[in-house]
Amino acid sequence: MNILFATSEAVPLAKTGGLADVAGALPKALNKRGVDARVILPKYEEIPAAYIQQFEQIAQFTVSFSWRKQYCGLFKAELDGVTYYLIDNEFYFKRRGLYGYGDDAERFVFFCFAVMESVRYMDFQPELVHCHDWQTGLIPFLLKTRYAFDPAWADAKSVFTIHNLKYQGLFGIELLKDLTGAGDDMFRAESLEFYGAASCMKGGLVYADKLTTVSGTYASEIQTEYYGEGLDSLLRYRSGDLIGIVNGIDDELFDPMNDPALHTPYRDSLSRKRINKLELQSEVGLPQSESVPLIGIVSRLVEQKGFDLITATFDELLLTEDVQFVILGAGDQHYEHFFKDAAYRYPAKVAVWLGYDDRMARRIYAGSDMFAMPSKFEPCGLSQLLALRYHSVPIVRETGGLKDTVQAYNEYTGEGNGFSFTNYNAHDYMYTVRRALAVYRNVEAWKQIVENGSGEDYSWNRSAKAYISVYSQLVAHRKEKEP
Ligand code: ADP
Ligand code: GLC
Repeated sequence: MNILFATSEAVPLAKTGGLADVAGALPKALNKRGVDARVILPKYEEIPAAYIQQFEQIAQFTVSFSWRKQYCGLFKAELDGVTYYLIDNEFYFKRRGLYGYGDDAERFVFFCFAVMESVRYMDFQPELVHCHDWQTGLIPFLLKTRYAFDPAWADAKSVFTIHNLKYQGLFGIELLKDLTGAGDDMFRAESLEFYGAASCMKGGLVYADKLTTVSGTYASEIQTEYYGEGLDSLLRYRSGDLIGIVNGIDDELFDPMNDPALHTPYRDSLSRKRINKLELQSEVGLPQSESVPLIGIVSRLVEQKGFDLITATFDELLLTEDVQFVILGAGDQHYEHFFKDAAYRYPAKVAVWLGYDDRMARRIYAGSDMFAMPSKFEPCGLSQLLALRYHSVPIVRETGGLKDTVQAYNEYTGEGNGFSFTNYNAHDYMYTVRRALAVYRNVEAWKQIVENGSGEDYSWNRSAKAYISVYSQLVAHRKEKEP
């Protein structure tokens, strides 16, 4: 089965969050199971030179969208058994970072059209294109409209995965009309229109053959008004085609036994893990102590991740508890300022690293006893899975993938791999942290929780099979239609 992953980021080439982890690991897991899954993404300036050197240019052509004509180079390489294609256009992608430019609409409309054209130049006939988030939302739309009868696509099917419903790629209707060349009838409520704007995500939600999202709970939540971001009625309408498949992690790439970022490798030994804790404390300038519980946070600093709960209770926790926090993140300035200020006020209890740093992230997963992630909503969340993999006990709110992967510790049965609370309430969060700190003092109970977490399989094993079953149904249907 030939599957083309169209994505705006993928490990190891370019990453801002969990989407890159998924787009890097899932194709690998699929290929191991006999699928030919390949990945296509923009050729960003920030892709490390060591990878770029491995690519060769296989084509160059012009992409026409509306009145625009733009150069497009197509590059190809095989990395770790997966074939990657890069879409090159320096005007759009030779810039710092991945997103956040005033012309993001044009950049990603170009990318979608470039993907549609690029299959003419590949030695690969995708039977299905798997798109991810708003940046690739117009691909299912183009497949059902402009390219519906294009022999290059040979009636390929599409799957659209919602990694985060909050980011929808909303732009003015006039702009999207001008970029896509699509007519007025495509900017109605049953198509791309969304409350007076045009939505790239609706291109996926309305036109893809199947919709998936990254956990079962999030699949149900987004059909409600609270989590639906204005799209809940459309998602209820498409509920027969929407399924939740929980993410896995790449357990080779994230393995405390084999992670060059760590001081001391470990598998099950908590005492070896503690050496990493002492190393982390020394590196970030906190007093070294094996016994003081250390809570780690590795996150985009945005409202989604529950920072309003964390900041509201930060002083109270620090003033009343013997605890240390190490925070790594980048994002909204008011959270960055808050944590910088807190590190200044509590130098013996709080260390903050602002920015994106893969090595530091791994050292925090390994060096922390607990990992806080009280998200307001969380489609899946990979950070809590990485924390579990590195034996750091997650403290989460019961939402989305956090609910599906973290089971609250039950002191009577000894079951559970973490701590959790239900309502989005600062004090519920704080009491849950306090409870975790209390249980931490009970060495035997703590060992049990860590063991419960480390015994589970967080790899892509199960979920890769679930995707294959979604693809197979669609591809079989496509074959039936062939003469
Ligand atoms: P999201 O995709 O919503 O940001 P996930 O939990 O799914 O959340 O994935 C986040 C990924 O990004 C994880 O691999 C996490 O370790 C990584 N990450 C987040 N912030 C940073 C950072 N500041 N530095 C390094 N890695 C980070
Ligand atoms: C999004 C979500 C996160 C999820 C990731 C990968 O960024 O916020 O919950 O794990 O995508 O699917």
